[in-house]
Formats: sequence, structure tokens, C-alpha cells
Amino acid sequence: MCGIIGYIGKENATPILIDGLKRLEYRGYDSAGIALLHGGELAVKRSVGKLINLEQLVEREHLDGSLGIGHTRWATHGKPSEQNAHPHRSGNLVLVHNGIIENFLSLKHRLETEGYRFSSETDTEVIAHLLESYMKKGLSLREALRAADSDLRGSYAVAAICVSEPDVIVTTRSGCPLVIGKNGKGSFLASDVTPLLAHTRNVVFLEDGDIGILTSSDISVIGSDAQIVNRASVTIDWDADAAEKGGYPDFMLKEIHEQPQVIMDTLRGRFNYETGEADLPDLSMTAQELIEARRIWIVACGTSWHSGLVGKYLFEEMIRKPVQVDIGSEFRYREPMIQKDDLFIAISQSGETADTLAAAREAKKRGARVLSIVNVVGSTLARESDGVIYTRCGPEISVASTKAFTGQVMALYLLALHVGRVREVLSAEEGRWWLDQYTALPGRVEAVLKQEADIVRIAEQYYSKNNFLYLGRGINYPIALEGALKLKEISYIHAEGYAAGEMKHGPIALVDEDMPVVVLAPRDRLYEKTVNNLMEVRARSAPVIAFGFEGDQELSRVSEVVVPIPEVHPLLTPILFAVGLQLLAYHIAVFRGLDVDRPRNLAKSVTVE
Ligand code: F6R
Repeated sequence: MCGIIGYIGKENATPILIDGLKRLEYRGYDSAGIALLHGGELAVKRSVGKLINLEQLVEREHLDGSLGIGHTRWATHGKPSEQNAHPHRSGNLVLVHNGIIENFLSLKHRLETEGYRFSSETDTEVIAHLLESYMKKGLSLREALRAADSDLRGSYAVAAICVSEPDVIVTTRSGCPLVIGKNGKGSFLASDVTPLLAHTRNVVFLEDGDIGILTSSDISVIGSDAQIVNRASVTIDWDADAAEKGGYPDFMLKEIHEQPQVIMDTLRGRFNYETGEADLPDLSMTAQELIEARRIWIVACGTSWHSGLVGKYLFEEMIRKPVQVDIGSEFRYREPMIQKDDLFIAISQSGETADTLAAAREAKKRGARVLSIVNVVGSTLARESDGVIYTRCGPEISVASTKAFTGQVMALYLLALHVGRVREVLSAEEGRWWLDQYTALPGRVEAVLKQEADIVRIAEQYYSKNNFLYLGRGINYPIALEGALKLKEISYIHAEGYAAGEMKHGPIALVDEDMPVVVLAPRDRLYEKTVNNLMEVRARSAPVIAFGFEGDQELSRVSEVVVPIPEVHPLLTPILFAVGLQLLAYHIAVFRGLDVDRPRNLAKSVTVE
């Protein structure tokens, strides 16, 4: 949902801003722009389309300055065009904005009566004119931002600079993430930590209503009472190289291949083999509280929701604890019967997804204990939760989520073991058995990754098809949904995930020789039923791409092609199948000649409703 960046310091701001935007491009890529302040003059450059267009424009014009802001856009108000691209200017000030201003029409009307003329269709231009109008009344830039903050409704992160205050960048947030940092040579702001990693590891996450003041030597935060507030700085231990492609053609392929490491990192130091227990100190819940938790709720969006669905099957089968799973946007607007002492688990890679955050706040309001499974350290969801399990995936840059899903499912495995042991549903011996299975998973994921050449051949054979069906049962039903989502997102092929047994209640009408059907068929207690479903689609001439256990001759006999995964306990199959389906979606998108890291219409972090 748009990325914003800012720099003030001793160095040339242009390469810092462009490099920062490259790292934020996954948040939006409809258009981009930067503004620099140099020698009392503001230079604003904007261009439509991918960042490379802006980069070339800026190179041609040799822009420099030691103070600037930049933006990469995911259009909400107004189509992608140069006029709608940020930064937006009003008089001698410019600003960039991420989010949505809900009351922009009434503010626009008010500003028009004051004589302001609008040159874009965006909600952002309202903020620029609003700041200008307050500055004209004698307020400083930071005072104008504070005044504007009380006029604005919606979710936003904003950064502004102006000619009359050439030594400062001011920034604020309400509902959208914003992080600031400094390194002795300058101060930085960004929508997330990835652009800051090359400059500093110690960052400050602003809270709603904070105003961040950046000068070339310092950063400070002013709270809503106009007093300086001390916001603790957080040390990010992500490697700066983690935000590079590292020899892979795209981030998505790199992130798919990082999954064995993600599993190891997410498990590291979090279990005690002797006692067969998971050790999750950041859970902030006593064993007694976990025992007493009446019900477990899991709420998330998109891929994270799919990992939540895996969690439901896992908790119910492994430790006999009932779980209710909801989509964030549904949970927040119905009357969920969540109560005091229920355990509410919010799952989110970014920790900034608006609907998941709103659901977690609602759960908290109703007295539930909120635990989050989050990848981004210091994100809003992590900060607002009673307890956190960080997934330790490193930055996930590709818009389509892959390694974050695996990290989330691993966190759920750990949590299931923890709850199972404290409630004494699992013995120490059983705990050790599960730990043996968990720690063997990285090697098993490697084995799936070794199937890539075969998966490329399958992709080559089927990439031109217009429809795909994904079928799974039990704990692999969410994986069928996830496989279909991955394909839709990056290849723009219509794909549906279905519970295999549900197929004959409607979707089978779609099946013909032009619809490949991907079937997840581990040898579990539902194997025969799944094979029957497979036979039903074969009888309608559909080509079947099966994913099953190594050495399954029967599956090979009834499918066009089989991708083997190592034989594991059925509850541990989801990650292995998901990795195979990620590779399938990836290679199909590559054969279709698409930009897999930046699929159309999508943004990585959905910070608006
Ligand atoms: C799919 C994808 C999205 C996200 C969803 C939630 O590949 O990336 O569906 O999973 O927007 O995002 P987080 O996990 O950041 O809350």
C-alpha cells in the first residue's frame, strides 16, 4: 500500500532515496516520485510505471540535494498517472503519503473555498494544501502537521519538507506503519525497515499520533501533547543482504529456496528436547492461562489465513483443542462470540494488515488474550499483542507470500506442542517424537526443492491453460486454497481450491480436458477417498497433476504426472505440498512472461480496508 522514504544528512539524498524505493517497490508500483530540497529550491520528479522509469529520469537530470522524500504508489484515489503520482506540492512544501484519507471530499471542499485549486485526483493533495493553509496562518511545519492530523480521518503515514524549513523532515502516522532511524551521517524514515537496513539496525517505530522530527544529526518524537516522548529503539537483526536477490532472478524464487533455513531459524532455541517441550518465552502466558483458555480463535488474511486453517486441523487433531478460524475483514464486522480468557491468535507476515489489526483490537476489547504470529519485528500487531511468536523469516520482498507461510505453520507446530505439553495431552516422549519430526523438516523441504526441474516441465506443459482446480482434504484443504491463490496472484490464471469431497457438489461441472486438476494425495486415512475424487475428474478427461508420497505407484497409475514428496506424518505434509505448489505457480508465471515479484493490482502490505 505505497511506500514512503525520507533522508536528511551529509550525503547526496538521490541514490539513498532511489535505493530505498527499490526496497519498497513491493508495496506498490503504479508510479513513483521523489522531491529534493537544494539551495532553497524544490525539485519534484515523478513518473508512471515501475521505478526504473523514475530512476532513468533522475539520472538524466542529475538531481542532488541532502534532503529529500520519495514515494512508490499503489493507486487508491485516481488512476496511475504522473499527475496523481507523489510527492504532491502546495506552494513551497511537498509531501508523500501512504494510506487513505476518508474525509478528503469535505476537506477538499473546505480548501477550495479558501482558494486552493487541485491538480490531481488523489486524497493526498488535500493534505498538502491543508499543511500549506496552516503554515500561511503562521504555524511551523511540525505545528501544521499536528493541526492537519486532527482534521484528517482515515489511515495514513505522511512525510513533508518545505523551503522555509530546509533543515528538517517531519512525519506522522495514523494506522499506517512508519519507522525512523539515524546513523551519524544522516536520518532516515520509511514505511518499513527494509530500506533502513543498509544504513542502520537501530530503528524507532512511531505510534499513531506521534510526530517524527528528522534533522541531519538527530531524530526525535513528539507526542500528541506536544511534548518529546521517548520511544524505545528496536534492533533489527536482519542481514542487509537478505533484502537482495542473491543471484536468483527474482525474490520469489529466492524466498521459496530459503524455506529450509526459515524452518531452522523459527525452531532455533525454542524447544527443550529432554522434556519434549516447546519453549516460547515471548508468549507471555502462563501454563495455567493456557490451560484455562476456553476457546482458541485464529484470525488472518490471505495466505496467513490459510496457515491459520492449517492451525485448526493441527490443534484439533494433535492436541484435541477446538479452534475457530476467521478472515480478518469478516471477524471485525460480525458479532464474534469471543469472550474474556479466550485465546485469540492473529497471524500476519507484515504485522500491519488493517483487517487483522482491527480484529485483534476487537478481541482485546472483549477481554481475550491476544497472541500474534508475526514476521516483522516491532510491527504494530506485535507491539499491540499480549504475546508474540516471531517467525524469523527475514524480509519477505516478493508480493506473493511463500516463506512467511512456512514460518507461520512452523510457529503453529511449536505452539501446538507447547499447549499439548502444558495441558498434558502429549507426554514427554510424544513431545520428543514431534520434535524429531519438526527438526527433520528442513531436509524434507530440500527434497521437495530438488523436484524443481520436474515441476518446470509440468509448468511448461500446462502454462497456457486458463483454468486450474486444486483439490485437497483435511489439513491439505487449506493447501489447495493456497496453491490456487499463488497461481492466481502471479500468473493471472483463474484457479480454485476445493475440499476434494466437495467437488461433486458443483465445481465438477467445470471439469473438462482443458482444466488441469492438481490433487494433493498423501497416504493418510483419507487417501482412498482422495483417489476416488481424482478418478472422478479423470473420468471427465481432466489432466491430473498429483502430489503424493515418494514411491506411490498407485498414484502414478491414475495421474498424468506425480510430484513426490518425502513420506511424513500427515499433519506435517502441508509445508511440503505448499513448497511444491509455490514452485509450480512460480514457473507457470515465468513461462507466461510475467513479473512474478510485482503482480498487477497487488500490494504486499494491505494497510487499508
Ligand atoms: C498472498 C499474500 C497475501 C497476504 C495477506 C496478509 O501471497 O501475500 O494474501 O498473505 O495480504 O498479509 P499479512 O500476512 O502481512 O497480514
